[in-house]
Amino acid sequence: MQTLKEFENSAQEVLLSLEKTQKEFWNIDRNTANFLNMLIKIHNSKNALEIGTSNGYSGIWLADALKHTGGKLTTIEFWDKRQSVAKENFRLCNVEDIIETKLGSALLILDEMSSEIEQGLREPFDFIFIDANKLEYIQYFHKVDPLLKSGGIIAADNTISHAKKVEPYLKALVEHPSYQNQMLNFEAGLFVSLKI
Ligand SMILES: C[S@@+](CC[C@H](N)C(=O)[O-])C[C@H]1O[C@@H](n2cnc3c(N)ncnc32)[C@H](O)[C@@H]1O
Repeated sequence: MQTLKEFENSAQEVLLSLEKTQKEFWNIDRNTANFLNMLIKIHNSKNALEIGTSNGYSGIWLADALKHTGGKLTTIEFWDKRQSVAKENFRLCNVEDIIETKLGSALLILDEMSSEIEQGLREPFDFIFIDANKLEYIQYFHKVDPLLKSGGIIAADNTISHAKKVEPYLKALVEHPSYQNQMLNFEAGLFVSLKI
């Protein structure tokens, strides 16, 4: 089990308290969170996107790493009550200044982001974390691939626990000529893809 030594005491308390309701809010486990935090630092990611905010648990870990790299996070959630809870948790952990929260259906928001990027109103992403509706993973991929820089990373959670539902996603990436992939055997399975 990873420690929370990265974080200031107040953020540690928030994270420990969120871990008590992990199942209710479908949060990633701490080992996966720590790995994503390290991956952002190793990769020096600057512009990250998360699909599936929930109460903000994973977003706090992603944003903590992005504070180290001087980056920022955009996170999408369609459940307004969850987004409100996440915003409060981001504030309590002092990461709200680098997080843009988007409320609505990920598929629609990704289309909006695509036009913003085309118009030069938004930078392409270099790190994407997918953790929303498992049956939609394949659609998220088709929409985020054009928004991801070459050299960028996509990490997708629940790729072992929900293997059947995410099968089209895994197949698309494994067969894609521009992606190098690795499944990591964390609690729910994390599939990491590098856009070459
Ligand atoms: C597994 S939880 C995310 C957990 C979060 N990443 C964490 O580890 O703290 C998935 C979240 O995605 C949201 N969601 C599911 N489908 C969505 C969609 N199509 N658009 C936006 N949000 C969606 C759900 O409401 C839920 O809060």
